[in-house]
Amino acid sequence: MSKVAKLQCEGHELEFPIVEGTEQEKAIDISGLRKQTGLITIDEGFVNTGSTSSAITFLNGEEGVLRYRGYAIEDLAKNCDFMEVAYLLIYGELPTESEITVFRDSIRHHTMLHEDMRLFYNGFPRDAHPMAILSSVVGALSTFYQDSLDPNDPEQVEISIHRLLAKLPTIAAYSHNKSNGIPFSYPQNNLEYCENFLQMMFSVPSESYKVDPLFVEALNMLLIVHADHEQNCSTSTVRVVGSANANLFASISAGICALWGPLHGGANEAVVSMLGKIHEDGGDVDKYVDMAKDKQNGFRLMGFGHRVYKNFDPRANIIKAYCDKLLEKLDLDDPLFEIAQRLEKVALEDEYFVKRKLYPNVDFYSGVIYRAMGIPVQMFTVMFAIGRLPGWIAHWKEMHESPTKRICRPRQVYTGPNVREFVPIAKR
Ligand code: SDX
Repeated sequence: MSKVAKLQCEGHELEFPIVEGTEQEKAIDISGLRKQTGLITIDEGFVNTGSTSSAITFLNGEEGVLRYRGYAIEDLAKNCDFMEVAYLLIYGELPTESEITVFRDSIRHHTMLHEDMRLFYNGFPRDAHPMAILSSVVGALSTFYQDSLDPNDPEQVEISIHRLLAKLPTIAAYSHNKSNGIPFSYPQNNLEYCENFLQMMFSVPSESYKVDPLFVEALNMLLIVHADHEQNCSTSTVRVVGSANANLFASISAGICALWGPLHGGANEAVVSMLGKIHEDGGDVDKYVDMAKDKQNGFRLMGFGHRVYKNFDPRANIIKAYCDKLLEKLDLDDPLFEIAQRLEKVALEDEYFVKRKLYPNVDFYSGVIYRAMGIPVQMFTVMFAIGRLPGWIAHWKEMHESPTKRICRPRQVYTGPNVREFVPIAKR
């Protein structure tokens, strides 16, 4: 089979190499196109364009396959906790007992914020969206750690990675405490990552807080299935910002902003708002499926559809199975979960969704579990960010370690006015 692609255009007959990945994905390497022809390619939304090669995550959208460093997401969600998966994504291998012990210990001892950082929260309005707080405070970490911002110094990168992984849950929990007007709870070094987050979120000085092991198990699963997803919008943002040699804190802050978008990570918040609206409207899911099919009203079924998955999102399957188990164990009867299941059934039997291969994605059921845990809707995308952080870090690190790293600077096709004479204001 030819390993080149032939291109004939404007009198040129050119050949471009076809590169192949370890899972037989193929791409035409057009890096020589403009030099040889003066032409560029254009691909709105990069639907057909690869930005890089990567050894971190493989997904097959047609078959609903997702693997981190070669391990199936189903195996990792079942057998690991979030810190093990974070280690795997960032360093490329599942940790040994001693490696994960050292890693956990280091993360545990970086969970506190500088006391001056806690003052930031006094300046935010009480109803500030926690994603705005998260991106602001993460960006500001660079002002407290000015000695470890060099992306080309492995030691500075390592300590920044540990500080970010350790502090993001603290920053997130403090934004929740702030919005509820309850005192900030310091992280506790005798607790594991997810337990620590839950105690910072929900403990109050007036009584002792006992972390529910069911919620710890659910949270580890949710953070694992959100941990990476190759070149999605927010990860690509982290890579683009990092390609300019911006420090890791600035790059992650930019990724948080991208994730906030309702078409991306913000969808989990939008799903629960949509399910709540359907519930208030009498639970008529057919009405909302019809609305989603009508292009005139711009309504979309949030939590449905995906740029890559044209089959079930394997993460949605894992989360949905856990919803069933958790709600049964908690003896909780969440009307929104019942509506979500009915909505899924109706949509998956509807020609419009079948033809466009629109399936529930990772955001469709995650909010049901967050609600069962008492996490408020506005914090849902923050939970996505805590999960996605190791993936963002892994991609940022892989990019900086690549010998072919270049600043990201796409081209364009100009469609504005041709050159014209300047007209002084008196004559306009
Ligand atoms: C995430 O990239 C990642 O990996 C993202 C993510 C990750 O882990 O990082 O998986 C996380 O962002 C999941 C997606 C969360 N977003 C939503 O749930 C929002 C609702 N979904 C969509 O808006 C949409 O499906 C996207 C944004 C997810 C994908 O958009 P695409 O690939 O650009 O698809 P499209 O908008 O071109 O839609 C193709 C067709 C269109 O109809 P036609 O023009 O062919 O007639 O499908 C329709 C769309 O109108 N469509 C929907 C729909 N999603 C797509 N119609 C109704 N409801 C929907 N949800």
